[in-house]
Amino acid sequence: MATHTEQLTRPTVQLRGLTRSFDRRTVLDSIDLDLPPGQFTALLGHSGSGKSTLLRAIAGLDHEVVGSGHLTAPERVSVVFQDSRLLPWRRVLDNVLLGTDGEDKGREALVEVGLEGRERAWPNELSGGEAQRAALARSLVREPELLLADEPFGALDALTRIKMHGLLRELWKRHRPSVLLVTHDVDEAIVLADRVLVLDQGRIGLDLTIDRPHPRSYRDPRLGEHRERLLAALGVTEDHR
Ligand SMILES: Nc1ncnc2c1ncn2[C@@H]1O[C@H](COP(=O)(O)OP(=O)(O)O)[C@@H](O)[C@H]1O
Ligand SMILES: [Mg+2]
Repeated sequence: MATHTEQLTRPTVQLRGLTRSFDRRTVLDSIDLDLPPGQFTALLGHSGSGKSTLLRAIAGLDHEVVGSGHLTAPERVSVVFQDSRLLPWRRVLDNVLLGTDGEDKGREALVEVGLEGRERAWPNELSGGEAQRAALARSLVREPELLLADEPFGALDALTRIKMHGLLRELWKRHRPSVLLVTHDVDEAIVLADRVLVLDQGRIGLDLTIDRPHPRSYRDPRLGEHRERLLAALGVTEDHR
């Protein structure tokens, strides 16, 4: 039984020397990372930099990563993907409840994500944004200690994405899981996260704390400096813009 102090300080996720290669090509190169409880972290990187590979390893979805380095992650982990992955033959509430019991919790979660009244809808009756709301509700009913999200808003239009940002931040505030949000969108990262990591050449190239109040605006000039640092870490210079 851990003492109270240990529980407060123990990271939710701990990686030491985590390495992953495909056909001798190293995608994750001895990564060290701690995610403290309740922190909202974003993971940025170019397409193909290994973001999904890292997320899958932490989610326990990559069985071949075992044995390389050290990885601890909590038992209650929820994962949200770009595609809602709702089962088309189950109604929304049944999708949310999948593998759990407690219908009331499912209904509550749907209220929280703004889908009250849509419990009996079929997934193909939902818009892209609504389907992602349902996916968030499904992740919530499991009361995760860790929420992993892999470009969850990547397929949504700009206006829907902004609404979803507000919703995700609100849900995080209420439930306080550790969040690791994978994105390739610098503005999404700086508007949402309190810490932003840049994955580059298989390593965490930059680990940036963003200490600005929420809700944040993309236009906040004080976020400009953070944006510049992140773009530089991503190798985007003036001439590329
Ligand atoms: N199962 C796999 N087999 C072979 N190569 C893979 C596999 N999964 C990912 N990769 C490769 O690893 C690299 C990182 O992929 P990924 O983690 O999906 O990048 P990101 O999510 O940052 O776009 C890519 O070059 C990709 O082709
Ligand atoms: Mg990816």
